[in-house]
Amino acid sequence: MTCRLGNLLRRRGVKKGDCVTIYMPPCPLAVAAMMACARIGAPHNVVFAGFSAEALAERIRDAQSSTVITANQGVRGGKVTELKKTVDAAVQSCPAVDQVFVAMRTENPVAMTARDVAMEEEMLKEDCVCEPAAMDSEDVLFLLYTSGSTGTPKGLVHTQAGYLLYAALTHKYVFSYRDGDVFGCVADIGWITGHSYSVYGPLANGGTTVLFESTPVYPDPGRYWEMVQRLKINQFYGAPTAIRLLLKYGDQWVHKYDRSSLRTLGSVGEPINTEAWEWYHRVVGEGRCPVVDTWWQTETGGICIAPKPSEPDAEIVPGMAMRPFFGIKPVLMDPEGKVLTSNDTSGALCIAQPWPGMARTIHNDHARFIETYCQPHPGYFFTGDGAYRSEEGYYQITGRLDDVINVSGHRIGTAEIEDVVNQSSSVAESAVIGYSHDIKGQGIYAFVVLKKDDEVQGEDLCQQLRNMVSKKIAKYACPDFIQIVQRLPKTRSGKIMRRVLRKVVERDVDGMGDLSTLEDPTAVEEIIRGHLELCGKPL
Ligand code: WT7
Repeated sequence: MTCRLGNLLRRRGVKKGDCVTIYMPPCPLAVAAMMACARIGAPHNVVFAGFSAEALAERIRDAQSSTVITANQGVRGGKVTELKKTVDAAVQSCPAVDQVFVAMRTENPVAMTARDVAMEEEMLKEDCVCEPAAMDSEDVLFLLYTSGSTGTPKGLVHTQAGYLLYAALTHKYVFSYRDGDVFGCVADIGWITGHSYSVYGPLANGGTTVLFESTPVYPDPGRYWEMVQRLKINQFYGAPTAIRLLLKYGDQWVHKYDRSSLRTLGSVGEPINTEAWEWYHRVVGEGRCPVVDTWWQTETGGICIAPKPSEPDAEIVPGMAMRPFFGIKPVLMDPEGKVLTSNDTSGALCIAQPWPGMARTIHNDHARFIETYCQPHPGYFFTGDGAYRSEEGYYQITGRLDDVINVSGHRIGTAEIEDVVNQSSSVAESAVIGYSHDIKGQGIYAFVVLKKDDEVQGEDLCQQLRNMVSKKIAKYACPDFIQIVQRLPKTRSGKIMRRVLRKVVERDVDGMGDLSTLEDPTAVEEIIRGHLELCGKPL
């Protein structure tokens, strides 16, 4: 499949160095598409198939892709998504796109234009041997867009040899992967977890990998464990948000299936609370599988902090990522930029030396790369996360220090949402914050100031704003709460104090700290009243 597709891409003019955008659900052809690009030396740019047409278009343009690979439709959780239609809408604003390869994930035909290529049909005409392009170790393997603290997503660049080495080694040692194992990472290929642990890591180790296209509760909450039984999965790698959700449905869904094949359970994407960790360990793993909470980022390419490798019986503290991987030197910084050397301390998490899997740059914006990761603490890579180092020297990630939030394991910048909300003709300004949410990890709360003379009010406007966010970004980015306020809390220099807004939503009035720097402290009282009216009981 990979070779035929590689030959097809080549015949249709895709050259070494050309970036190809892939907008597909996790399916064998999507992996073949990634591999085919890698084989001919064309960097791939996989865009999560839940992103809207506008978000896709922005990423296609920024990556300067002229080729897009998609599927007619996607199938997820009993619902069909119109991927080809979304691509059609997206490429209207991407004049450089001159061909769209369309795979048939379902049997439903879709309208094809002169630009479109029926992928499977054309692949059949190709030879099944495809000469691989010779690449330099530092040539680009792929771009992957992720959110930062400004409105524009950044295309992180990963290269050939270092990334592959790092994905393979971490896959082997963090999960105790052995030859012949079946590795089950349930992340979507549109995220870095899917790249490193559904595709590159397991395949580089000659392993069998599982592609998961559905949701944890379809057709019922036993889906994961039915799959573990059916495919005899040895390592299961998932997200805390799904574990928290499944925990609520009760143990019977787990008990129903044979999980004796499982040896390691992994967690990724956000902090895992002790309750979820214990349930995963005791109920899913029958108390016999180590649970590895793995900390890393799109930027790091692979796992940087995880309980393993370690001595066979070394302790794992629930909810802690624990130990740095080979070659990773974590450092905690205080707010003045001094390295904290003692234990039982918290600070900004940095990494003190480069490692093979680190992103090399941001596509087309090396200055932003330097500014974001290298300048905050010169001489160190700054992760954007805070961490605690215990008395014993173990690490626990405490969450982002910047305006990035994590909704069901999806990373999103509050500025991206604000930019969309502010585009409404009724909105004067807005401030978006994350609040802690039982299942999703974080929920989204938007404070909105209307233009004085505006007529539209209340529910209609909120619905309109949610539609805009869903249309311009994705459904998961829609605010759970939208509170209309007269003013936002600002410093005298006009900076919005999001810290104060977070405290309002957390109902921590005492924790608000010094409000004397606010331009107008009475704004806060009004916001508290409005919040209580909107939400009543604490979130
Ligand atoms: C951010 C990176 C890593 C692949 C999936 C997400 C948060 C990730 C953990 C963890 C606490 C975690 C961090 C990080 N995060 N793993 N085990 N414990 N927080 O990749 O979309 O690039 O997001 O996810 O805040 O910076 P991403």
